[in-house]
Amino acid sequence: MNADVFDSAATVLPPVCFEQPPVCGLILGSGWSESLTVDHILARIPYADIPGLGASTVVGHTGEFRLFERHGLRFAAFLGRRHWYEGAGWAPVVLPVELLRRMGSTCLLVTNAAGGINPAFKPGDLMAIVDHINTIGLNPLAGPVMPGWGTRFPDQSQVYETAMRKHLHQAAAEAGAVLSEGIYAFTAGPVYETPAEIRAYARMGADAVGMSTVPEVTVASAAGMRVAALSCITNMAAGISGPHLSHEEVLQQTRSSAPIMAALVDKFLARLAVPQI
Ligand code: HPA
Repeated sequence: MNADVFDSAATVLPPVCFEQPPVCGLILGSGWSESLTVDHILARIPYADIPGLGASTVVGHTGEFRLFERHGLRFAAFLGRRHWYEGAGWAPVVLPVELLRRMGSTCLLVTNAAGGINPAFKPGDLMAIVDHINTIGLNPLAGPVMPGWGTRFPDQSQVYETAMRKHLHQAAAEAGAVLSEGIYAFTAGPVYETPAEIRAYARMGADAVGMSTVPEVTVASAAGMRVAALSCITNMAAGISGPHLSHEEVLQQTRSSAPIMAALVDKFLARLAVPQI
């Protein structure tokens, strides 16, 4: 990867984006974009207008950057994400993280839709990610060490910060949402997994599986950001229930879970105004 792509992307962000660091950055995955409540929008840019990012090719991903105020605080959100399987390399996948870092955001909330592996889960459940397994053996930090992205060999002992996860749990309690915890297995996609793969990931300790999030949080954590991540379990993973999986089913579940997802995210944003955070 080459820093030029990030430099070009940063040029389209208006000066208001650099006036004061957003309290937290958000990258909202499949079906989560509707979960954003804003008081006042300060800037909005379609992904197609951000060089190096480009419009998402995936249904359910809004594809808009928003700088906004909520609960008297400033936040920056990427509504929709690019994925490794879209075939454009790592740059568009992690570009939101780099733009947030350049805006001065030191914390990041990432959300996704995931398949449930843990049999205790059911569609509609929400899970705070406590750790992950990168099953693809590749990550965006390979290549030259990028300025601001930490050391050559970043520690990954605690990618998901305990204090941030505590805020997620407090936010869930305030929102009346049940929030479980679990380990997320990242796959390359775009295929859903085979039942044999799911059995293997279960033995490896995974509770849920999905095609996103890990690239972004890997960069964010290497760059020293405080990270939290949430999955909406949209279906049980291959071989656990039902003969078929479909993206339509995933979107359908996020649509029905949208109100509780919105309440949880909004309470989380409100909690960031609490001074001890
Ligand atoms: N597998 C991978 N990604 C997913 C799934 C799944 O079952 N559900 C939602 N995203």
